[in-house]
Amino acid sequence: MDKPKFSIVGCGFVGLVTASCLASKGFKVIATTIKKDEADLINKGQAPFFEEGLDEVLKSAINQENLFVTLDNKKAILNTDITFISVGTPMREDDSINLNFIENVSKEIGQALADKKEYHLIVARSTIVPGTARDIIGKNIEKLSGKKMGVDFGLAMQPEFLREGASVYDTFHPNRIIIGELDQKSGDILINAWKQFYEEPYPPIERMNIESAEMVKYANNCFLSTKISFANEFARFSELIPNVDIVQVMKGIGLDDRINPKFLGAGVGFGGSCFHKDVSAIKRWGRDKGFQSKVLEAVLELNNDQAIHIVDIAEELVGDLKSKRITLLGLSFKPGTDDMREAPSLKIIKELQKRGVSSIVAYDPRAESAAKKILENSILYANSIEEALRDSECALLVTEWEEFKSIQPQDFQKLMKTPNLVDGRRIYDHVLFSKSIPFRTIGRR
Ligand code: UDX
Repeated sequence: MDKPKFSIVGCGFVGLVTASCLASKGFKVIATTIKKDEADLINKGQAPFFEEGLDEVLKSAINQENLFVTLDNKKAILNTDITFISVGTPMREDDSINLNFIENVSKEIGQALADKKEYHLIVARSTIVPGTARDIIGKNIEKLSGKKMGVDFGLAMQPEFLREGASVYDTFHPNRIIIGELDQKSGDILINAWKQFYEEPYPPIERMNIESAEMVKYANNCFLSTKISFANEFARFSELIPNVDIVQVMKGIGLDDRINPKFLGAGVGFGGSCFHKDVSAIKRWGRDKGFQSKVLEAVLELNNDQAIHIVDIAEELVGDLKSKRITLLGLSFKPGTDDMREAPSLKIIKELQKRGVSSIVAYDPRAESAAKKILENSILYANSIEEALRDSECALLVTEWEEFKSIQPQDFQKLMKTPNLVDGRRIYDHVLFSKSIPFRTIGRR
């Protein structure tokens, strides 16, 4: 069977990783972007952002001449069989989802399909609120192409579950594939394409209608966010009396296979490009339709509170934070990335500034330049752990980078003016550290 040709609209994190992985395995892929410099860079085999493993698959795709990036959506669509829509769906000020890119792209696809005789399959990969694929993408294409969905073109929605820093691995080893299909034919074509990409045994494939698949993506991210906020709530309970330790408590419940141990890590809260945006968007979407969420409201509130809470813990440890020099170990929303979107560090910094600290000095192995774009010179940036700790009066561990795990109590003692340490990610041995230095942590008194 001939491999289908793909066009992928959008060269962001999801689009480019998917395009590179498909092309590295012999599929012909035309990807599109609206940025000329981005297209030029990718066509030379260079990724415009850092993502673990992406350079290798991208180089292999370009060397095999299987991937080409253009600004011309029409050309890409007319020369391929399946189009993935991977454009951004950012959050508006009022928390609602901004579907402008989806609107524009679906109109362009409609215009292109007006000139195509053969059947074409469109697959939404962006995170979109239920109803968007059929009512916006499908209808726009119908209007501008004069064709009928389910007859002249197919429509599907396949949510992606890629983790930043592991997205290449996740593309090659998904734990399941969710296919929302307008009709049997749309789903069959997409599944057959993936069966040429994956080897047997194939990842589990779950077929459903389009709207359910759109909802799966939200339910998935909301559930993971809820697990984290639940762990954080129990961290607060655990802090009410001595000896209860949230790490042990979550280990205890994680062994129940109805619960599982993942995403029960209490800390300074979740960040990143998806969780906050998706929880907010579906909550807002429900409200606009007359349903007020209770769980998700609490999830966001608890998440926000955790960033403030670590500052409260620091204050309990040090006393008034006014005029103190504070160190932040880590800035990115999680290790392995320079991404600062919704990073808890931003909220922590704001709170510390509100409480009048004299200076904040931060060290992050990768996120300094991304952080500078947001924080500018409102904090100091150190080039090493040592530089960040020197003369500091309290250190807050915010991101659990590998290199922070080996810092010993005596290092804090040696370098800091007063070796106060608050562990916001539970990476340090509580017993050892509290014996040696003034030490506090999340989820253990
Ligand atoms: C997430 C989803 O995992 C992915 O499926 C989706 O496609 C995009 O959003 P990502 O944003 O890359 O991926 O990060 P993830 O590794 O899921 O972590 C999100 C945040 O939750 C991080 O800030 C992390 O520190 C925090 N987290 C995670 C916790 O606080 N505790 C945990 O136990 C796990």
